Amino acid sequence: MASQQQVSGEAASRVLSQLRGKHVLITGTSGFLGKVVLEKLMRTVPDIGGICLLIRGNARYPNARERFLNEIATSSVFERRKLEDGEGFDSFLESKLTCVTGEVTEPLFGLPRDQYDQLSEKLDAVINCAASVNFREELDKALAINTLCLNNIASFAKSAGGLPVVQVSTCYVNGKNSGQVHEQVIRPVGAAIPKSQQGFYEVDELILLLQDKIADVRSRYSGRLLEKKLVELGIREANHYGWSDTYTFTKWLGEQLLMKALQGQSLTILRPSIIESALEEPAPGWIEGVKVADAIILAYARGKVSLFPGKRSGIIDVIPVDLVANSIILSLTEALAEPGRHRVYQCCSGSSNPIRLGQFIDYLMEEAKTNYAEYEHLFYRQPTKPFIAVNRRLFDTVISGARVPLSILDRALKMAGQPVELKLLKNIDTTRSLATIFGFYTAPDYVFHNEQLISLSQRLGKTDQALFPVDPRQINWPTYLRKIHLAGLNRYALSERKVYRLNTRKVRKAA
Ligand SMILES: NC(=O)c1ccc[n+]([C@@H]2O[C@H](COP(=O)([O-])OP(=O)(O)OC[C@H]3O[C@@H](n4cnc5c(N)ncnc54)[C@H](OP(=O)(O)O)[C@@H]3O)[C@@H](O)[C@H]2O)c1
Repeated sequence: MASQQQVSGEAASRVLSQLRGKHVLITGTSGFLGKVVLEKLMRTVPDIGGICLLIRGNARYPNARERFLNEIATSSVFERRKLEDGEGFDSFLESKLTCVTGEVTEPLFGLPRDQYDQLSEKLDAVINCAASVNFREELDKALAINTLCLNNIASFAKSAGGLPVVQVSTCYVNGKNSGQVHEQVIRPVGAAIPKSQQGFYEVDELILLLQDKIADVRSRYSGRLLEKKLVELGIREANHYGWSDTYTFTKWLGEQLLMKALQGQSLTILRPSIIESALEEPAPGWIEGVKVADAIILAYARGKVSLFPGKRSGIIDVIPVDLVANSIILSLTEALAEPGRHRVYQCCSGSSNPIRLGQFIDYLMEEAKTNYAEYEHLFYRQPTKPFIAVNRRLFDTVISGARVPLSILDRALKMAGQPVELKLLKNIDTTRSLATIFGFYTAPDYVFHNEQLISLSQRLGKTDQALFPVDPRQINWPTYLRKIHLAGLNRYALSERKVYRLNTRKVRKAA
């Protein structure tokens, strides 16, 4: 990737000139992707007018600015920026970065009317990154943040005279559709949902129905059982309409609400596939948290999982987080330059640089076998077993075949007053629960396409292709998976997790 200096002398960047002096509201910057978007804008678009972060307070930091300074500005995502230009970083925070303590799920974001109006007056666009990415979220919570909050985003955009909205969605709104998935409205494969003449689906009645079902569950259960029932309701409803989980179902519903609410206005739906560590920026391998594929890699590294349901020939669609952040910035630029339209982009690797699940596993296994000692937070010892992906039926047969005698033994030991933790039984249960959550994603029979996104990048020209690359063809999979991603998991996701845990323990003790 080129730096700003390298490309100067070539045609001017359309992104930099379009974003000069503009003010952008971003949600979700306490999360993984939001941080990378913020970092890239701060470092690469210094002439942006201002960035406003809508952040909810938490128990430790009820105030957004305080939370930002303690939980976001301290993230290693900004290491590079602080090293390259620490003063510039500080002065950006002082002069261009504002934080608003608000709840995106509340009408008016929970702000007093005058503050809400003032906020809308000074903005030029909104990037909505906030979401619950928990696949098995309680249905009421998932609906609130992934679906209903989009009414608040749309009202805000409208009250500000038609601000362009960039909505970060997911390629997996595709649900149980198979085959080639293009950058367009997704048709559900389950129970019928009416389609409007404009092309989006009419989901208002369906949402009311879901709310009735939530109210019914709430009237019958309480406490932990209520949570469990709301999780089950989400999965049941998602399956009924054609999705594997509550997350993707509610994100699809959110897309429909926005398309309806923002007719005639600017809306870009940007769908990433599985987002993984950075290819290059802010640092190769930069990542936060352990999600989706990484939860399985970690369980394997700890010797807990070695068999998983999966289709080795299926294309597993992974995309580095920096390419996603760049796609958001290109989408924003286009929406500001040519407002008034709806667009859908997919930021994914499947159609242009596919990697099959089998190759994905083999590269990681080779690295684990030969260089495990380089990743001390990930591998405590050399993995002894291969990671095997088998079809779902075989997986279920093997797992339940192995579990039955072990659980009988477990019960017998408990009854005999000798409760011993059976490691194998625990590992089987870990495998089973990871397979329940992620099994759908490891047996892909769809291919996500990104032709529209690539064409946007080409339209913007070579300078912006160098400053804001989005093309997954630059990924060399063996190098990325073996040398960048595993190292990133080890350095950022796992070592930072340890430090964070230590810190929170200290804080609890101090309190
Ligand atoms: N990660 C992936 O692989 C992936 C793939 C495709 C698409 N996406 C999309 O990318 C976006 C960012 O995902 P991510 O991986 O960065 O997620 P993340 O790390 O879990 O961050 C989620 C963000 O959303 C905020 N949020 C969650 N629930 C909220 C609520 N009820 N009210 C207000 N804010 C709330 C969180 O704020 P708090 O800190 O206050 O909770 C956090 O800032 C999402 O829209 C997601 O759907 C992610």
